[in-house]
Order: sequence, then C-alpha cells, then structure tokens
Amino acid sequence: MSEIFFTTEEEFNIFLGETEHYRSLQDKVIRLLAPDPGRLILELGSGVGATAIALAKCYRDSHIIGVENRREVIKIAEERRRGEGLKNLEFVELDMERIADFLREKELRPDAAVFVYSFHHIQDPIERKKQLARDLFSLMNSGGKVIVGEGIVPVPGGHKEYYSRVLEQERERPERVYLTIFWEEYLRALEGGMSHKKALEVARVMAKRAKKLERLAGIKLAKREGEYPLTLSELEEVWKDAGFKILVSERVNTIGEAIVTGIKP
Ligand SMILES: C[S@@+](CC[C@H](N)C(=O)[O-])C[C@H]1O[C@@H](n2cnc3c(N)ncnc32)[C@H](O)[C@@H]1O
Repeated sequence: MSEIFFTTEEEFNIFLGETEHYRSLQDKVIRLLAPDPGRLILELGSGVGATAIALAKCYRDSHIIGVENRREVIKIAEERRRGEGLKNLEFVELDMERIADFLREKELRPDAAVFVYSFHHIQDPIERKKQLARDLFSLMNSGGKVIVGEGIVPVPGGHKEYYSRVLEQERERPERVYLTIFWEEYLRALEGGMSHKKALEVARVMAKRAKKLERLAGIKLAKREGEYPLTLSELEEVWKDAGFKILVSERVNTIGEAIVTGIKP
C-alpha cells in the first residue's frame, strides 16, 4: 500500500505512475517492443522511473537507460531501482536533446527509444523535435524501434484560438481520473488488509488529489505552459522525416492520447 499523504509532488507522481490510467498507455508501449526489444533500450524523460522499471522487469535480457534532466527525480528513480534489485537499468542525468553526444561519447547504439508522456517537453519550434528524431535515427541500429506515447492536440500551432476546444476535450478527464484512481486505490487497500472504512477514506483522498492535479495539467496543456504537444499528424511527420518507417500512428483513447511507432529500415 502506498503512503496516504505524500510530502512532495514527485512522491505523488510515483503513485500516479502506478495507476490504471497511466499504466494503460505504458503497458501498450512496453508490449509494442516485443518480441525482440533488442539489447539497448533508451527511455527518454524517465521521470521517477515508472516506465523504465517496468521495461527492465519485462525485458530482463535488455539493458535500459533512463534519461532524465532533473537530478532530484533521478534520485527517487534510482532508489526505486535499487529497491527492486534491477541490474539491467541505469539512470543518467542528461538533457534528452543532447542524447547524440552521450551516445557518441559512450559508443552506444540503441535498439529502441521510448517516450512516455515526455516528447511534448521538447520546446518549439518543431525543428527541435525533428533534430532529436534525426539524431536517434542516425545512431540507432537498423531495425531499431521508436515508440512515442503521449497527449496530442486537435490542431497545430495558433493554440490560443483553439483554447476552448482543447479545454472542452479535456473537460471529462479529471472526473475519469477520479474514478480510475478511486477504484484502483480502494481495491489495493482492501487487498492489503485495510478495513472498508479506512480504505474508503484513503481512496477518496487519493482520487481527489489526482483529480485536482489532472485539472491543472489540462489547463496547462491548453495554454501550452511548459508543454509543446503536437497533433497526431505532426508527431508522425517528425519521425517519418527523420527516416523511420511508420508502423502505427493511432489514438489510444478519447481523452487525447496517441501512440506513434516507427522502425529504422
Ligand atoms: C511525465 S514525466 C514522464 C515519466 C516517464 N516517462 C514514465 O513514463 O514513467 C516527463 C519527464 O520528462 C522530463 N524531461 C523534460 N524535459 C526533458 C529533457 N529535455 N531531457 C530529459 N528529461 C526531460 C521531466 O523532468 C519529467 O520527469
């Protein structure tokens, strides 16, 4: 059972990374690497390590490198890795836009590059995302896969005039998150031996907090504060332009998330 009251936002993010909502996208991304994930998998923007840890557990014969630019977050991810006893996973403190320098210096050629809710952190103009895609293409082994799972926007650029439309699209999301987390946490608490009364209390606190964060995230996304999401066709274009053959480019749910996968021929 997770702690009921988290002291930092990062700790709470660990909890979010374990919820059904987050996991459903993560699970698809991980399964898309099967049956042959290759020897070296990069997870770019690895945060507190939820996806990197899941990858390391699923693909024991692969080595996973989680790339993250915030030291305090890496500390948490590293503690979790140690707690899980995973030897095929490491975290590096690095701006993902500098991945090419890192790979060249270490003489590494990845077989897969995975982004889970992180590609939109690369700032505009879109050329910066295209540069990263080209760098990965040039340094990956042939047959290497790229998998991007994240939120998309309905229309490109000129975001302000479409503000209300995006908000409309996001309107139901906080409520969905409330329900997902309530049930996830309630059942987990009961399974952990907690009384019904206490489990109910815990689940409601967690679900309320998640709903609040989700609402804030939605508003941030609509205003594009610190986030630079693309439309699905822009996202596909970024990887296609770099030389990847697109395997799938599809929405995964009705709340505005999608997955794009490509392979280096
Ligand atoms: C929503 S979290 C994704 C978490 C992780 N991918 C997972 O699924 O568990 C996005 C992460 O990307 C990181 N990030 C943002 N810009 C970055 C950059 N330029 N280089 C490396 N990491 C970055 C943020 O610090 C944040 O921890």
